[in-house]
Order: sequence, then structure tokens, then C-alpha cells
Amino acid sequence: MKVKDAVKAGVAKLNNSPSARLDVEVLLAYALNKTRTELLTQLDFELSDTQLQLFYQFLDKRAHNCPVAYLVGTKSFNGLELIVNPHVLIPRPETESLVDAALGLIRQTGLTEVFDVGTGSGNIAIALAKRVPGLKVIASDISPQALRVAQENAKRHQVEKQLCFVESHLAEHIQAAQLIIANLPYVPDTYAVMEDILHEPALAIFGQRLEDTSGSESGNDGLDLYRTLFEQPIFKTFRGVCLIELGARQFDAMSEWLNHRFANIKIDPICNIDGSRTGMWIDFRALAQ
Ligand SMILES: C[S@@+](CC[C@H](N)C(=O)[O-])C[C@H]1O[C@@H](n2cnc3c(N)ncnc32)[C@H](O)[C@@H]1O
Repeated sequence: MKVKDAVKAGVAKLNNSPSARLDVEVLLAYALNKTRTELLTQLDFELSDTQLQLFYQFLDKRAHNCPVAYLVGTKSFNGLELIVNPHVLIPRPETESLVDAALGLIRQTGLTEVFDVGTGSGNIAIALAKRVPGLKVIASDISPQALRVAQENAKRHQVEKQLCFVESHLAEHIQAAQLIIANLPYVPDTYAVMEDILHEPALAIFGQRLEDTSGSESGNDGLDLYRTLFEQPIFKTFRGVCLIELGARQFDAMSEWLNHRFANIKIDPICNIDGSRTGMWIDFRALAQ
């Protein structure tokens, strides 16, 4: 079979996927060990039986909603190719807004240390370390498997000396930080998610509470882990900026809770390029005055 016919057959097989053509091109290029550009300029290339078999195996898994990133084992984030596997969340483009906000603050203040809570594949920590030579990043996760992936990614991008990985429940082992950045799971437990997302670790998606330490109203709003984080000892003395990712519709509830919990903080939205709110900038510096 030629590349052009394999593409056609693949698109027909993935007719339920909104990104069928792109998925097919990425999977076929991977099966043939070519770039997408090479693939699209070699439409008459004849696939071997082994290549065709491999491509059909990928198509079959994709048709069962396995994300393309898990099949090819990598995902691009902030211009960096990162290793991913089913132990880590596949980095999302909206998380790049958190990185941009952090870079702006780092350049403005010259701060030298960042704490990344729930690092997953290490995407945020590695993007920051790569962009700011000399920056130290402590990266925590409760999942040892995720930390292994993050460590591999740090090596792959040669920033392992700037990073310190800690297995920890949120910030429980961290006493102090200059900038805290967190993309914690925030999907409400009761939310019906797309099938693709069910292939990602529940621990990275759903914002359920591990233990109720806050005494605050918990619920199914997906914000339990954030509330737990803000109740941990580090926030008794924290006087820097904390950047978090959350859903646009969770912004008001999180703001209200934070303003009730901490007097004199300043909250601003972090927005995507299209203006949608993807996160929150929480400034604790006024508490120092
Ligand atoms: C939404 S994912 C974000 C991963 C990555 N930072 C990113 O931006 O793609 C949340 C991460 O938090 C971790 N996590 C969940 N509960 C945690 C907890 N109690 N303490 C520390 N990390 C936790 C998960 O294992 C997962 O890696």
C-alpha cells in the first residue's frame, strides 16, 4: 500500500475523531520513522508489510480512544519535545500561559527559585529551567511513576542540575518558596469527560480531596486539592506569587474562597491568547508590608 492510500484508509477508520487527518499523519509518520513533512512529500512511498501492520495496530488503539501522544510517546510543550506515558497527563497548550506568566515575573523580579507542585511530565519545570539558565526548580508530585518521567525529561533537555524532584503530597515537605506554580487536577469528580481523557491518570485529572485537612466546605467543584494546598504550612509564611491553572468557570469560586482565607492578597486572571481565563495569579506580596 502507498502512503496516500494508507492515509485515506486511516481517515476512514478514525471517522469518529475530530482530528482524524492529523492523527493519521502523525501515526503513519511514526510507523514509518519519518517526519510528517517527509511523509507528505512521499505520497507514493510503498509501505512494507511490517510498517502497514504497525500502522494498523496504532489505528486500532486510536479508534479505541488511546491518545496519539501515548502511542508515539512524546508531546510538544513550549517548543520542547517531552516523553509521555499513561502515568502522566499529556501537557496541554493552555498550560503554556502559566509558563509565560512565570517567565514574565522571573524576568521582572530576578527571582531564582520556583516550586512546581504536581509536576507530572515535568513540562512546566523543564520549560522554565530551559528558558532561565541558573533558575532552580523544586518539582513535586505524589506519583513516583510521574516523577520518573519528569526526571527522564529533565535529562533529555539537559536541565537535571537545575531541578530537584520531591515525592510529596502537594507542598507538605516544602518550607519556603519565592514563586509557586501549580497545575493540579481540577476536573470535578462528577464531570463527564471525553473518552480520550479516561486514558490519562485519574490522579492527574480529577480534583478530589485526599484528606480533609482544611475543615472547609468541600464538594464536587474540582477545587479540593487547591484548597488543601492553600491550607498547608508553607502558606502561613508565603509572601511571593502563586500561579495556578483552573477552568474559566471555577475562577470566581476559587477567588471567593481565597479572599475569605487570606486578607490582602491580589488576584488576577491569567488568559490564553484567545482571551479565555485559564488560570489565576495570586499575589501574596502585600502581606509582607
Ligand atoms: C493536572 S496534572 C498536571 C501535570 C503537569 N504539571 C502539567 O502541567 O501538565 C496534575 C499532577 O498533580 C499530581 N498530583 C495529584 N495529586 C497530588 C497530590 N496530592 N500531591 C502532589 N501531586 C499530586 C498528579 O500526579 C499529576 O501529575
